[in-house]
Parts: sequence; structure tokens; C-alpha cells
Amino acid sequence: MIESRSRRSVLKGLAGVSALAALPPGLARAGAPRVIRPQPAEAQLVGPSYPKTAVWGYDGLIPGPTLRLRQGERLDVRLENGLPQPTTLHWHGLRLPNAMDGVPGVTQAAVEPGGSFDYAFEAPDAGTFWYHSHANSAEQGARGLAGPLIVEEATPTAGTLRVDREETWLLDDWRLTKEARIAEPMASMMDLSHGGRIGNTVTLNGVIPEAWPVTAGERVRLRLLNAANARFFALRFEAHAPWVVAVDGQPCTPFLAENGRVLLPPAGRLDLVVDLTGRPGARFEVVDDAYPRDAYRLLDIAYADEAPLRASALPAPMALPANPLAEPDLGSAETIAIVLEGGAMGGMGEATLGGKTMGLRALAERGKVWALNGVVAGDGEHPLLGELRLGRSYRLVIENRTAFPHPMHLHGHHYKLIARDGAPEIRGIWHDTVIAWPDGTVEVAFVADNPGDWLFHCHIPEHMMAGMTGMFRVG
Ligand code: C2O
Ligand code: CU
Repeated sequence: MIESRSRRSVLKGLAGVSALAALPPGLARAGAPRVIRPQPAEAQLVGPSYPKTAVWGYDGLIPGPTLRLRQGERLDVRLENGLPQPTTLHWHGLRLPNAMDGVPGVTQAAVEPGGSFDYAFEAPDAGTFWYHSHANSAEQGARGLAGPLIVEEATPTAGTLRVDREETWLLDDWRLTKEARIAEPMASMMDLSHGGRIGNTVTLNGVIPEAWPVTAGERVRLRLLNAANARFFALRFEAHAPWVVAVDGQPCTPFLAENGRVLLPPAGRLDLVVDLTGRPGARFEVVDDAYPRDAYRLLDIAYADEAPLRASALPAPMALPANPLAEPDLGSAETIAIVLEGGAMGGMGEATLGGKTMGLRALAERGKVWALNGVVAGDGEHPLLGELRLGRSYRLVIENRTAFPHPMHLHGHHYKLIARDGAPEIRGIWHDTVIAWPDGTVEVAFVADNPGDWLFHCHIPEHMMAGMTGMFRVG
């Protein structure tokens, strides 16, 4: 890995020399990285009768620009920090070289305002991924910094998964004041110790959605992405039965969503195949009932009046081609127990912070309320949870002793869901972010095949900041 990277930079150097010597400027720029610039901007998040909202967006956009590449292709991005505080780019779900992972203090120094950092990696897996900051991520996420990263299948999907078109829905939520300003403080003790910063305004691709225009008979691939800090989404498609064809970017054997309802934790992605089987002119609701007492209509599925695209129903979608993930060997896998503790109504009597054992009250005074295996991460720290042998299989048994669900994310790898509360999960679904439900146990397994220091944390940034993060060293 190191060898090929240094060879690449030698080649890059040579290309630079020849470009300067011989090529016209247009050609010299051909190999230049795509610049991504997080910066303050304004966005019309709520209706035109409200003022615009001051946000932070990649290239000033909410959501950030969609980055698209083909599986196996290389992505070159230069981060130019236009924010008033340090930032990084993290490529969520990508199994990339550790140095490109964008974790300040672990894989790189945070990029200061006005500074830049070059990211370059090849995308090993096709699927739906995203990018976001890993610096001060509670605030930077809540102000809007997120964008989709789509890796297209190396082989055209025709013949494997035929759809008429595809769409990406980046779901986000915002906590706004009545004047449509982003409400402060960014991370209150209430948010840190409860369910995180849940907003009061939900947007789809940066606007409050009204209708999803569709044509009868068409088959659409919907790439859903939850970029909210803390909100879970559970979308119920009235009178429709979406197929789930990929979870967190990784293809699965297609299955029908139960009751037409799909659950999306913070950072989660789902690729759906939706057959638009309604009649021309019909309207149906998509309802989000993740919090049943606060269920609301996200949008209407709005059928055009035109004649159906096809006369008869399509057969079940075929599976997308699998990505090259190593299958964990459960027989020889080493088990690592992970206990989640803390938070309001939690059962954490005391825990260790910086090697010092403290009671809950002393921890709370330091803004720390969550622990992984009795260890509370200090500011900017990710305590070592274990050293893993390269190529070896591991089983994480994650026990949630808190009163809140936690979307637990592992960097640089995907893990396979193998059991919940002791009962085997037979679908064999890969996740990079798996929900640990309160008072429950979730088991995942993976091969530690990517060398480096990889974070394992709750993806609710308020929980991560307040202690719920750690790191595995693979080597
Ligand atoms: Cu989506 Cu540690 O990140
Ligand atoms: Cu959490």
C-alpha cells in the first residue's frame, strides 16, 4: 500500500513537470483535484415567506455537491477550509487507506481556516456513501455540512438491476428558531445526555419536500441517506412496497420492506427499488413515524397524469453485484465485548476519564456522560478499545445499558449483523453503522483487513463528544 502510494506520487510529480514544460494550461489542469470548500452560506430551508438561514455548506450548498465515481476509480479532492474553525473530510463507509480517513488527531491534523488538505483514494466498493466533517462534528453537522458520495457499479447495472432512473434523498433535520435561524447552543447538556440534537425541521436535499413526481409503472432506485445528527427516520410508503437492495452501501439479497416501512439511523443509507404501481393522477403519502407520537407526512408520491410506462408489473429486482468484502470466519473469530453506558436515566455509577476513575456527577461537570467499556473519551480523544490482528475475524458483542438507541459506526470496515439479543440474524446484512437498541445486545462480525487506527463510535455527535468513542488498532 505504502509502496504503491509513493510510486503514485512519483508519477504525479513527473506528470506535473511535463505539464509545466509542454502542455497548455487546460490540459495541465486535467489531473487537478476536485476542490471542495466548506464555507458559510445562506439557504432557503423553509418556505419563501421565511428569511434564508445562515448555514455552512460544502461549496456553499445544502446538501454538498454529489461526488460520483465508478468503482475502482480514484477520487482526488482538495479540501479548502472556508470555515471560521478547523475541519476535515471523512468519507463515511469507504474502506480506504487509513491516512485518508479524515479523523483529526488520529489520521491527520485538523485543517485550519484558510488551509487545505489533499485526499486521494480508490473506491473499493460500489454503493451509496457520504462525506462529512469529523471535526467539531456536532456543530459542523448541525450547520449543514454533508454531501452524498455515489460509487457506481463497475459493470453497468443493466442485466443486474434494471431501473428507469435513480434519485438520491439526503435527509437532514435542523433546529431552527422562529426566524429560521439555527438555534444555539449547538450542544447543550440536555442534548449531550439525552438523544442528541434532534431538530424541528426536516429537509430532503435541502428543502422541505412537498411532492415526489413519478410516472405510473416506472421503477426507481432511491438512495436514502440520513445526514441528521441525531434523528432516526422510519419512512412508510403508503400503498407501495419498496425493495431493499443495499444497506450502508453494501448490496443484499433484495427483500421487501416490512409494511412498506424502512428504518434509517443517523449516518445510515438504504438503496431501495420502488415500483410505482399507482394509477396516473393518484397521490400517496410517505410518512415518517420513527417517533410515533410525532409522525408526520414527509411528502406525497404524486403520479403524473400520463399513461403508465409499462403495462404489467416487473419481476422482483435482482441483487446488485456484491462488493469484495472478506467473509468473517465465525468459528475462529475472537469475541470482543463492548458495553455502552451512561446518559440520562443510565446506569453508569462511575467510569474512567484519562485514567482517573470518577463518579457520574464529576463526569457530567466535564460535559462527559457516556462510556465504552467503562472508559470515557476526553476531548478529541479516542481511547484504544483493542488491538486487532490484520486478517483475523472478530465478533463484537455490543450491549447497550443506556436508555437511548445508539448508531454504532466502525471506520474503514463493514461488519455483518449476526445476532440481536442472542437470536441469529439470517439475512447476513453488512453495516457500517448498526443500531444498538436500549437494553439490547447486537452482535456483528468482520475481518480486520484494513491496517490502521479506526474509530468505533456512536454516530450521534453529541454522544461522541460526550465520551462515546474509541478506536481499534489493526496491524
Ligand atoms: Cu460518519 Cu466517524 O463517521
Ligand atoms: Cu449514541
